[in-house]
Amino acid sequence: MTTMLFPTLYERLESCRWNMRSSIPWHEFDPSKLSERQKHGIKMNAILEWSAMPTAEMFLRDNSHDVDFSAFVSIWFFEEQKHSLVLLEYLRRFAPEYLPTEQELSAVRFSFDPAPPLESLALHFCGEVRLNLWYRCASLYHSEPVIKSIYGILANDEARHARAYCDYMKKELGRDGLNARLAFSKIGVLMTNARMNKAMHPTNLHVNKTLFPNDTVNGRLPDPDWLSTWLDQEIQFDSEWEIGVEKGILGNLSSLLNEDFKNAHALRTYRKDLTKNTEMA
Ligand SMILES: [Fe+2]
Ligand SMILES: [Fe+2]
Repeated sequence: MTTMLFPTLYERLESCRWNMRSSIPWHEFDPSKLSERQKHGIKMNAILEWSAMPTAEMFLRDNSHDVDFSAFVSIWFFEEQKHSLVLLEYLRRFAPEYLPTEQELSAVRFSFDPAPPLESLALHFCGEVRLNLWYRCASLYHSEPVIKSIYGILANDEARHARAYCDYMKKELGRDGLNARLAFSKIGVLMTNARMNKAMHPTNLHVNKTLFPNDTVNGRLPDPDWLSTWLDQEIQFDSEWEIGVEKGILGNLSSLLNEDFKNAHALRTYRKDLTKNTEMA
């Protein structure tokens, strides 16, 4: 018998819920502190957040055996759509010429191939850790007060999502320990691979063989190069920030797996030993 996490997660997330009208300092908008390129970035980010829609569809389809996690997806999906909506509302108020069209939003809704649920869970946990730091970095980068505040609010939501996914990972370890260890360490190794770091966000992965190569969320944005340019040249998500992502992933995996992963190499060694022992058994 396992305990459902949905009721406590609902309480936790409800108690932190922000309000579109009253939590955003809309009246502080300062047009002199917002460039055309920044407006473009906010548009791309609004479309990127909209891609929670196909992800939620994937989660519900691949977790038909798990009512607890599926119930949580309703909250997660709501909050991610709200992230898109607050960016759309910002554009509607201050840069309506940059509002995405319905077709541009539809382009990121496409079917993902079925994926192993434990790996998807770990992948999205790592994705939320990364997103939290991207948005913290974006909040520091922007000087326009309203968007600065929005990115701070979104960063906090993404951190809470990472924690919720982590809680489900913990539950899976209690339910199917070995398979969960194999899946989580596999994804952890991929997501802390320094050479691939920036690529390793769910929105950069190929997720539908029949649409290849047009099957990544980022590739379906009106500006497919936006994310990497934004990270490298605009918000300047540099190696210091990357270290933060790695620390976040390794720290959580350490406590989940009851290990002490001081660096990505330690996790790789753990994964290798685990695979070897499993094959021998
Ligand atoms: Fe989000
Ligand atoms: Fe999130």
